[in-house]
Amino acid sequence: MEEFNVVDFQTPPWLCRHLVEKLEKVIPKSALVVEPTPGAGNMLEALKAAGYTNVESPPGNFFDWRPSGKPVAVVGNPPWTPNTLAYKVLDRCLEFGPAFVVMLMPWVTVTNSDSRAQRLKAAGLQTVISLPRSVFPGVRLNACVLVIEPGTQADYLTLLLPTVEELGKE
Ligand SMILES: C[S@@+](CC[C@H](N)C(=O)[O-])C[C@H]1O[C@@H](n2cnc3c(N)ncnc32)[C@H](O)[C@@H]1O
Repeated sequence: MEEFNVVDFQTPPWLCRHLVEKLEKVIPKSALVVEPTPGAGNMLEALKAAGYTNVESPPGNFFDWRPSGKPVAVVGNPPWTPNTLAYKVLDRCLEFGPAFVVMLMPWVTVTNSDSRAQRLKAAGLQTVISLPRSVFPGVRLNACVLVIEPGTQADYLTLLLPTVEELGKE
């Protein structure tokens, strides 16, 4: 488990609900959904509360694990310390096969590497939801939610700039 990060930051339940709502628009409740790095389980709780019945996540190290089949969707918030760990989790998820992905990521994921940007575009990156700074008070890193819809190739990405109220912050 050497890849476990030291800063164990959990996603607030209201933000988990927002990510799961993105999933609910397109993914049936019986589909195989993967949460790669569940931590304390807030995202798993949000998936369960939304009625997802076929959710898999690793009992230990994500990098030593495979889901039972090809996931239809992936939803999560990987560790960000260092950022490269978040990129590795996202890349590994994409290796499981084409899937609808809703992932909380560092903003720079789409800006600090041309090859990663092209890879994400090829995987079907459609939307970047830029999270307001006030979502994580005191945290210096800018966060976004990447939405990947397999089988699509966007000429232009959709950039959403929601307010915390629109995101449903409690
Ligand atoms: C940013 S937290 C988010 C947790 C959860 N996904 C959520 O949304 O609340 C990232 C979590 O990944 C876990 N983690 C770090 N490295 C991991 C690994 N190699 N395999 C599985 N989980 C890991 C950490 O324990 C941490 O709880």
